[in-house]
Amino acid sequence: MKVLGIESSCDETACAIVEDGKTILSNVVATQIPFHQEYKGVVPEIASRKHTEWILPVVTQALKEANLTMNDIDAVASTNRPGLMGALLVGLTFAKSLAWSNNKPFIAVNHMLGHMYAAHLANDIEYPYLGLLVSGGHTIICKVTDFDQVEVLGTTIDDAVGEAFDKVAKFHGFGYPGGVIIDKLAQNGNPKAANFPIPLINKGEKGEHRYDVSYSGLKTAAINQLDQFWNPEFEKTPENIAASFQETAVKILLSRLFKAVEDTGLKTIVAGGGVAANSRLRSMLAEHPEINCIFPPLKLCTDNGAMIAGVAYHFLNRGETSPMTTTATARVTEFKRGLKTKS
Ligand code: KG4
Ligand code: ZN
Repeated sequence: MKVLGIESSCDETACAIVEDGKTILSNVVATQIPFHQEYKGVVPEIASRKHTEWILPVVTQALKEANLTMNDIDAVASTNRPGLMGALLVGLTFAKSLAWSNNKPFIAVNHMLGHMYAAHLANDIEYPYLGLLVSGGHTIICKVTDFDQVEVLGTTIDDAVGEAFDKVAKFHGFGYPGGVIIDKLAQNGNPKAANFPIPLINKGEKGEHRYDVSYSGLKTAAINQLDQFWNPEFEKTPENIAASFQETAVKILLSRLFKAVEDTGLKTIVAGGGVAANSRLRSMLAEHPEINCIFPPLKLCTDNGAMIAGVAYHFLNRGETSPMTTTATARVTEFKRGLKTKS
């Protein structure tokens, strides 16, 4: 079964065609980064306008690269949540129109299920496992028992990890998007140049914050309190700032993740989301051979249509499609601690 998947929740206009939830026949991603760069962050109105401009050429290109026409496509899928409202609506409305006019089923997909699925496109992975969803908007440690069964164990109590990368980079003038630039700078910096603290999170009466993380403290330390944590032996270069920040950002994540490994006994970790591209996160996890950590290929960490088409295939396989009345939702309620996703 061939599914055409569209993704437009943020600043990438993307379309991919995936066969049987596994084989990527085409994967086109038109990134808007240069258009948001001068504002040092995503401007929602610019994002919506660019999606409107690019959606048709991107979908046309995906069909062309796969050497297929709409006659060969079995279903059309699109992200419908969470994301920027105007941006989501462009992809969703286009996908519904494409499905309706070609008499194909339509499937709406939760963007976060897409990120969780990305590693499955390149690996055979068995359930259950621990999921690590790390992006610009989310930081989630979860137990995953099926493609749509995600139980959130821990989340951030303030900023998402990707957001912290972006804000620290923005403040120090490193550029946009911050994550990939900090990752690059850090390769020539010393992680010991600053001793940023790892926050201790109050576990709560019922231990419900056991797997939670916090990034606002590290963000403030790396922005406003740099002198306080700086090791005077080191020069305050962008490389050293980046390396020290990144080291602590990854350590915060792993401190909670390892707790979840210990408590659940699950030794397979599957990562997803933009921050899963981080080289230090990958190298630190590789230092633990007792854990089997699976990352998506770099191109599938950040937003793409293949992950959406992959998830949609499994819904389709179960006979679950979405009505044409499906609308977009900016925020989701599914990914809250203790809750299991429904779709
Ligand atoms: O998944 P994604 O493309 O969009 C969201 O759903 O948010 O993730 C984007 C986030 C941004 O915060 C970006 O700075 C971060 O992922 N990111 C990285 C790296 N590449 C992208 N963060 C750390 N290291 C990277 N190599
Ligand atoms: Zn994303």
